[in-house]
Amino acid sequence: MAVRLLQPLLLLVANVAFSLGHNIQNTPTPNVSYFGTMHLTFGDFLIVGNTPTGSPIITATQAGNITGPDFEGQLALPAGDWAWVDSTNHIHIDGRYQFKLTDGSIIYVQATGVSPATGSETDLPTKMYLRPSFLTGAEKYFYMNYMVSTALVRRNGLDLTLDIWEVTWPDVQR
Ligand SMILES: *[C@@H]1O[C@H](CO)[C@@H](O)[C@H](O)[C@H]1NC(C)=O
Ligand SMILES: *[C@@H]1O[C@H](CO)[C@@H](O)[C@H](O)[C@H]1NC(C)=O
Repeated sequence: MAVRLLQPLLLLVANVAFSLGHNIQNTPTPNVSYFGTMHLTFGDFLIVGNTPTGSPIITATQAGNITGPDFEGQLALPAGDWAWVDSTNHIHIDGRYQFKLTDGSIIYVQATGVSPATGSETDLPTKMYLRPSFLTGAEKYFYMNYMVSTALVRRNGLDLTLDIWEVTWPDVQR
């Protein structure tokens, strides 16, 4: 019991000590700039049920597109999302898609992330987080292979909108 009471106090002391010793003003704030938007339409969910490692739900992505300041493309199948809700009611998503851009370039995207779940297996949260990563051999879009990005995801029924933001050092060209 004493340890349990002591723990928050120790954490508080450690936090204050860290803040005093660490000048936050010298910590660079990352530059976050808009990269593009991805639309996805999910199909019906396959419910695997309660397994020792969570409750997986799987869906084949039916349609989608990606648009950005200098690119536009449509989803090329196959594409899908594998998700599972863990014992702390957080949903882990692993989505895999590829897009064929209007100039013929293929961009492969894998998006993973964890978000608070709603408590219902098929009722995904309306706001989620994802960390997309991109792979392409197209020279024009080669920078995407090295890009650090994050996506804020909005869900409306089976339609998802991912607004993707690129994260870079401030004042450093990518
Ligand atoms: C992308 O999909 C969304 C949702 O279906 C649609 O509103 C939008 O017009 C589409 N954009 C393109 C460029 O295909
Ligand atoms: C942030 O990134 C954008 C897009 O690359 C760039 O135009 C801008 O100058 C950057 N700002 C800083 C403070 O680095």
